[in-house]
Amino acid sequence: MILDGTLDTSVRTAAAALQAGQLLGLPTETVYGLAADSDNDAAVTQIFAAKGRPANHPLIVHVAGADAITRYAKEVPVFAQQLIDAFWPGPLTLILPRLPQAAKASTGGQDSVGLRCPSHPVAHAVLQACQQLDPPVWGVSAPSANKFGRVSPTTARHVADEFGDDLLVLDGGACEVGIESTIVDCTRGVPVLLRPGAITRDDIARACGMQPLSKEELPAHTPRASGTLLAHYAPNAKVRLMDAKQLQSALDILGADGKNIAIYHRSPLKAGSTHLLLRRMPTAPLAVARELFGMLRNFDDWGAKLIWIETPPETADWEGVADRLQRAAAAG
Ligand code: TXA
Ligand code: MG
Repeated sequence: MILDGTLDTSVRTAAAALQAGQLLGLPTETVYGLAADSDNDAAVTQIFAAKGRPANHPLIVHVAGADAITRYAKEVPVFAQQLIDAFWPGPLTLILPRLPQAAKASTGGQDSVGLRCPSHPVAHAVLQACQQLDPPVWGVSAPSANKFGRVSPTTARHVADEFGDDLLVLDGGACEVGIESTIVDCTRGVPVLLRPGAITRDDIARACGMQPLSKEELPAHTPRASGTLLAHYAPNAKVRLMDAKQLQSALDILGADGKNIAIYHRSPLKAGSTHLLLRRMPTAPLAVARELFGMLRNFDDWGAKLIWIETPPETADWEGVADRLQRAAAAG
């Protein structure tokens, strides 16, 4: 059932559902989440079951504000506090050392916890209402509300289509950011970028004065992060990344024959076939992020067998989009 998330009554219904151990489709500024009370292990287990997600892939705990950090994290390094001050509420998740009793199922037993304070007004209202309940719900665990490995949802309809009408979903409109939060591991003395997003490595460096490491630069093994598996975000069609030249030669070879091929490109192209679906990428990376997952779903709905996408630039502001595209391509 989809409820209008801007109504107080819907927010109260949603908070009560979370307190009662039920699942909720929750809009955030990044993507929609499949939410449950972080400290209710049975409810959290249902998230893993509904998504078909392995239990050792930890979930992000969403909080109403920085005050709730002390319920989950043992300590907050200075650079992590600087990132919180700069970017919360917003699309930034911090991995911090976990308090032993908190959010056990959610964290898959790891000794760290991922925390994020979303800026979406509906998410914020639900998290605030949760804190005011008796007993309060301090944290809400929410992975993206898609089946494991599939494209993340950016509208309430996407969530209802994926999980059926029995799930309570709050409609908060189309997500502004469109790709999942930037994840920074703060447990290693220096910021480590685990998943790129709308907040870039340059933004992070500016806010805390330390250039984040990439996970490839880490000596030891990092905890599993499904958003960081090589193959993820898979539409039904096979995705291939090509530069402008490769795209144009592929189109030249096709001539008038191309069918069931959708193309998402930046550079001008000449296409001989009228059966292709061509979509031009916006010039700004944030605008591409906003429409990306919806675009992949549209291509599937149109009946694409192949999706050809022009490789984005290699600059820091494109890193989040490039990452999602590379993993969508690796899934094929
Ligand atoms: O934007 C987002 O982050 C969205 C919205 C709903 O908030 N959520 C989201 O959740 O993308 P999910 O579960 O699809 O991705 C969370 C990522 C996973 O890759 C997970 O492994 C990683 O965060 N993660 C969570 N806790 C972690 C931890 N303690 N250590 C390392 N990685 C962690
Ligand atoms: Mg996900």
